[in-house]
Amino acid sequence: MNNILRHWAKPLLAAAVALSCAAYARAADPIKIGFLVKQAEEPWFQDEWRYAEQAAKEKGFALVKIGVPNGEKMIAAIDNLAAQKAQGFVICAPDVKLGVAVERAAKRNNLRVMSVDDQLVDGAGKPIASIPHMGISAYEIGKQVGNGLAEEIKQRGWNMAEVGALRMAFDQLPTARERTQGAVDALKAAGFPAANLVDAPQAKTDTESAFNAANIAFTKQAKFKHWVAFGMNDEAVLGAVRAAEGRALREDAVVGIGIGGSQTALNEFAKPKPTAFYGTVLISPKRHGYETVLMMQQWIASGQAPAAVTLTTGTLMTRRNQDAVRKQMGL
Ligand code: GLA
Repeated sequence: MNNILRHWAKPLLAAAVALSCAAYARAADPIKIGFLVKQAEEPWFQDEWRYAEQAAKEKGFALVKIGVPNGEKMIAAIDNLAAQKAQGFVICAPDVKLGVAVERAAKRNNLRVMSVDDQLVDGAGKPIASIPHMGISAYEIGKQVGNGLAEEIKQRGWNMAEVGALRMAFDQLPTARERTQGAVDALKAAGFPAANLVDAPQAKTDTESAFNAANIAFTKQAKFKHWVAFGMNDEAVLGAVRAAEGRALREDAVVGIGIGGSQTALNEFAKPKPTAFYGTVLISPKRHGYETVLMMQQWIASGQAPAAVTLTTGTLMTRRNQDAVRKQMGL
């Protein structure tokens, strides 16, 4: 008898454990979260994805990353997530005016949704309060840009009357408008003449569109001796810097400060000689990627919805202090 028991005890125990594990796994579907971004090729969004992936690995849930460059692809992606048995998703939509469509698609599929970076709006252009959001404190960060530019104008001893300020504009996106408005207000508060502000409206938010927009603006306003340039992100300012170079306006004549601090900015800082891309306000793809998916995980697992709005901060980073500033932000 003893021998028989000894013979069978181990396999029996193993079978029992395997059975109860299977039952446990069936009891609740494993957590699966989507992360949808409007511009998957942009370094900022790649960084967000990377930190979201890190959170998924650490906490043991599945992450599905999908690029959604337009409304059609976005709706298809949301339906696809549901088919894959995801329970929720984080989104930076290709157009904030798709807010109602996003909410409807989420509801239809029984998915929880939170937005990141660009806050979704309703038909009247008002933020949709029922969709939790994490974004940057756009106006404040814009002011940091403007203060940085004003500081450099002073450092260089430029006469403000001879300086043009190029605002790379993408005003249909509220966060973009608020960012550049912050910069404009800070420049004005530092004594910059409002008449020297030049708008360069971008068709899209990538470097190429910014380059084209800046070229047109420089052609129309050839009278300034020096320039400062700012916009919604690093790509906008980089486009302006490249367009200026095409007119032989280099780092001694132009100061550009972007927003972001991802690879777009780091590549510029890594060049052997400084370019007119003087700095950027470093914002945190780690907070936007890692924290949003954790918030979503908690929402799914324990029903605890994220805060309605979470705003993140930034720090001015230049070629000189880049290592220290990135370290300080845990990047
Ligand atoms: C917007 C911009 C991105 C980036 C994020 C940061 O989505 O398009 O380039 O600046 O905001 O929140």
